[in-house]
Amino acid sequence: MGSPCFAMLLLLKLIALVLSLSSTTDSVSSLASCDFPAIFNFGDSNSDTGGLSAAFGQAGPPHGMTYFHHPAGRYCNGRLKIDFIAESFGLPFLNAFLDAVGSNFTHGANFATAGSTIRLQNTTLQQSGFSPISLNVQFYQYSGFHSRSQTVRSQGGVFEQLLPNEEAFSRALYTFDIGQNDLTSGYFLDMSTDQVKAYIPDVLSQFTTIVKDIYDQGGRYFWIHNTGPVGCLPYVLDRLLITAAQIDRYGCATPFNDVAQYFNSKLKESVVQLRKQLPLAAITYVDVYSVKYSLISHARKHGFKNPVRACCGHGGKYNFNRYRGCGSKITVNGTQIMIGKPCEDPTTVINWDGVHYTEAANKFVFDRIKDGSFSDPPLPLKMACHRLAH
Ligand SMILES: *[C@@H]1O[C@H](CO)[C@@H](O)[C@H](O)[C@H]1NC(C)=O
Ligand SMILES: *[C@@H]1O[C@H](CO)[C@@H](O)[C@H](O)[C@H]1NC(C)=O
Ligand SMILES: *[C@@H]1O[C@H](CO)[C@@H](O)[C@H](O)[C@H]1NC(C)=O
Repeated sequence: MGSPCFAMLLLLKLIALVLSLSSTTDSVSSLASCDFPAIFNFGDSNSDTGGLSAAFGQAGPPHGMTYFHHPAGRYCNGRLKIDFIAESFGLPFLNAFLDAVGSNFTHGANFATAGSTIRLQNTTLQQSGFSPISLNVQFYQYSGFHSRSQTVRSQGGVFEQLLPNEEAFSRALYTFDIGQNDLTSGYFLDMSTDQVKAYIPDVLSQFTTIVKDIYDQGGRYFWIHNTGPVGCLPYVLDRLLITAAQIDRYGCATPFNDVAQYFNSKLKESVVQLRKQLPLAAITYVDVYSVKYSLISHARKHGFKNPVRACCGHGGKYNFNRYRGCGSKITVNGTQIMIGKPCEDPTTVINWDGVHYTEAANKFVFDRIKDGSFSDPPLPLKMACHRLAH
């Protein structure tokens, strides 16, 4: 007891423990924060910061009204989860890759467009509302951006201040929020739940292909949101045939939520496989579904009103009319009147326009996912560069 020899032994043991911790199964508290210089995002309207607007016409008012005070390319009254993610790293909001005017891509680019699916659809945007910029197209754009940005950046001058350096691509966080539209696209083509479930493996195989392709280009840190409770969204509740028995106590359609959860369980399995296949990647699976569903099912407790009714829309049980969406106008006696009007106070409402969440709901979700409590592995967002032993 108290001998210098014993103390020395203890110290050595301690050093060995610390070394083993940092080399294999890092304990969360010992991990350093990641210094992501850039974010590259892939997805649909849940994370579109201007892609569909740039390509197919700007989202109009009242989108953006609460935070930006004008339309800002988002299908929301304000910020999206991807905006809160960028803010949390001290990075500016991501410009849409397709936005040719005023964009600065030094800190990343956003390839998401509203209506995007993982699988290329066989319908046009006009026919079905699904974006032709499916995940594979987003990857083509990313890949072209990766190589061309380096060529152009080498010209120096202002290009160095608008484009990321090569290192940013390997140190960046790659974020994904896509899959919801792959599920609804089948239902909108009158497929049964079994038919939709049957194509999910194909959807996920195309998803994992893209993650591998990005890894092959040097991407290492992946942050993957699962898909939300689509059966709680007015555009699904309004459009698809649902019997009273299929509505749960919170007003959500159980069959569609079941499919979303089925998709998520398969997505999680795919992530487990990816970790084996991509030895240098740190891949975080984030259970956004649970956060959104708990927000909807305990809306009042969290300060929100009727969770399945849209803030901005035109009439009906859900204040949603697919022919008279948020911001739509009619002309009466030569004067334009907005009939897809926003509610008084979007900060107390979960659903914005029948399809998308309000900024307040997005903030709620972000605040709960950022500390890792809904992540696998359970690492906070700011530590998403660490690969834990599984
Ligand atoms: C589009 O059509 C092709 C050829 O028939 C088919 O293989 C593919 O699965 C279809 N895609 C979707 C999303 O339905
Ligand atoms: C682009 O943004 C970066 C910060 O991410 C900044 O350092 C740079 O000056 C900006 N470029 C221009 C031309 O403003
Ligand atoms: C439009 O004009 C007609 C004729 O002046 C009038 O009767 C009608 O009330 C007006 N409609 C609205 C909605 O103002």
